[in-house]
Amino acid sequence: MDDDALTIIDERTESSYDVPLLDGGALRAMDLRKIKTRSEDFGLMSYDPAFMNTASCRSAITFIDGDKGILRYRGYPIEELAEKCGFLEVAYLILFGELPTAQELDAWVRDITRHTMLHETTKKFLEGFSLQAHPMGMFISTVAALSTIYPDARNVLNPESRQLQVRRLIGKVPTIAAYTYRHSLGYPYVYPDNELSYSANFMNMLWRMVEPRYQANPVIARALDVLFILHADHEQNCSTNTMRAVGSSQADPFVCTAAAAAALSGPLHGGANEQVLKMLDEIGSKDRVPAYVDKVKAGHGKLMGFGHRVYKNYDPRARIIKQTADSVFKITGGNPKLEIALELERVALEDEYFVSRKLYPNVDFYSGIIYQAMGIPTEMFTVMFAIPRTVGWLAQWQEMIEDPEQKIARPRQIYVGHGKREFVSIEKRSSHAVAA
Ligand code: CMC
Repeated sequence: MDDDALTIIDERTESSYDVPLLDGGALRAMDLRKIKTRSEDFGLMSYDPAFMNTASCRSAITFIDGDKGILRYRGYPIEELAEKCGFLEVAYLILFGELPTAQELDAWVRDITRHTMLHETTKKFLEGFSLQAHPMGMFISTVAALSTIYPDARNVLNPESRQLQVRRLIGKVPTIAAYTYRHSLGYPYVYPDNELSYSANFMNMLWRMVEPRYQANPVIARALDVLFILHADHEQNCSTNTMRAVGSSQADPFVCTAAAAAALSGPLHGGANEQVLKMLDEIGSKDRVPAYVDKVKAGHGKLMGFGHRVYKNYDPRARIIKQTADSVFKITGGNPKLEIALELERVALEDEYFVSRKLYPNVDFYSGIIYQAMGIPTEMFTVMFAIPRTVGWLAQWQEMIEDPEQKIARPRQIYVGHGKREFVSIEKRSSHAVAA
């Protein structure tokens, strides 16, 4: 038997099975089906709640080595991309597999900026939300609502149509994000300025007041670009898996992106950046950090912005964000929360509880501190994550649609409920207080 296959011996039947190994390290779960005790058996299944050890696809987009703290898009290290590229350049790389030439980049930027406007009815739709509505709820609903404006997006098997929707979504998500912010403040919406870069235009739509033309601070615009690059894709995380799962039914990319954004909004995923700031507020000062860490160790809550399913070493994105913070704070002045965060990191990384569980700061630990210093409210943080991640979701969606091995996502289950029961008529039923 060579390295590319595994021999499984079933001691129940004393049968032996040769199972090929895919790409040197994975067996196809369907190959387990042939392992049976009787011919009429269903065959063996694998059981893997939360996909702890199951690959759901073969992907060429993002590579992570969680033990070594490595992240690469299409083979290029995240550190180099964050230092040398703009966000739309990286978006092109993620979507099309290669870095663009200068000409390709120009055309791509032009294409995206052509799609930054929202239909006027979408503006009216946003106006229906209460002023207290959470921006992420507004973002998710508005992205889904775009599906009604672009019915052609249902044509998901047509590559040209897919390309158009990709451009529309990447162009429009900053506009939707900025409008949710302006709506919360009761300010008029600011139309996109297509002479500005992706990040500078986003700043324009967030912050322009009565000045005839918005002048974006180049350091803040660059920092936003870097933050967007760091958040653009992260292989098969919860929201990307949602994008692929919903997309596998051939639903249109607007509703798929809305579903992915909904998955992102949870506090264990993209919602963590908002929770980090709430946690730092709760801690309040540097000297209260050890008591807070003790509380977490005693099982009361988690350190938000710490830990990762894949990274068991420092999250490389958190390292880059820390450097970006320095450049932003030079412009905005420091954020007092940084002192608490640095102390929290120091205390946790010296503590056996966090060391033994390999819990390091993740991307969300420092991103909120920068966003807050820029003047972005806490409730907007997850929306800030959703803007660049739209690129990753769309690249993964495209890859899924084009992959001949993919079908509608439909996991199996192990049924653990009752066997067949006699029906009980309503007057004979006794209360079990199931619906409290
Ligand atoms: N604080 C304290 N303990 C933790 C933390 C934490 N942040 N994260 C994990 N643990 C403990 C956990 O209680 C468990 O301990 P034990 O072995 O004693 O039961 C152990 O570490 C392993 O954790 P797990 O829950 O099995 O790990 P997971 O891979 O299922 O969860 C995670 C990964 C990111 C959901 C989790 O670490 C977490 O909830 N972190 C806080 C939320 C957060 O920062 N999320 C953002 C993730 S990065 C950006 C993104 O993907 O959106």
